[in-house]
Amino acid sequence: MSYRFTHFHRLLFIAVGIALAPAAAVAAPPASVADSSARQFERDVRPVLLASCTGCHGKQSPAGGLRLDVPVPADKASEIVKRLNGDGGAAKMPPSGNLAAPKRDALVAWAAAGAHWPASSITKPIDAKAAQKHWAFQPVRMPAVPKVKAKAWVRNPIDAFILSGLEKRDLSHRQRRAAEI
Ligand code: HEC
Repeated sequence: MSYRFTHFHRLLFIAVGIALAPAAAVAAPPASVADSSARQFERDVRPVLLASCTGCHGKQSPAGGLRLDVPVPADKASEIVKRLNGDGGAAKMPPSGNLAAPKRDALVAWAAAGAHWPASSITKPIDAKAAQKHWAFQPVRMPAVPKVKAKAWVRNPIDAFILSGLEKRDLSHRQRRAAEI
């Protein structure tokens, strides 16, 4: 009896071990190098380029002929490093000098590594004006309560929206039960 009991436990241990092994493997997936550099670019580099550089290095008359809102030619990488550090006598970038050290460091590290633009990233520059028209950025407004035919059925403004939808589609609403009225 006791032998069978311990034997059962051993089997149970093995079974649980087998069951948990893949879970452990899933919990810590080996992040591919490309993945992590793309993530780093989106987190540390692109937002800084957009906030501090593309105002002058965007689509419209890019300063010095350099765009920083789309993939950067690899041969510009060392010039970017120089301009960020203010080396070589040319104007330091950004000209305002207004770039916090950690942000500058992130850009320098990115450019020094070749100014690689991950293929997975969105290369289309964001059109800020168009983006502002998205409904999520609109102020909350009270919409006009729609006019309906069966006014007697409406007890609150939400009813009016529902009823107007029904009436538009020529659908009828249920009569309220006596207890509801
Ligand atoms: C206020 C406008 C402005 C901002 C903001 C700005 N730049 Fe510039 N940038 C210029 C002008 C103008 C030139 C061309 C004159 C020159 O070469 O100094 C230039 C030139 C450059 C060049 C040299 C291009 C070449 O091919 O010779 C680099 C590299 C550069 N900028 C990088 C940056 C980076 C990186 C940022 C953001 C951190 C930035 N710039 C922000 C105006 C700006």
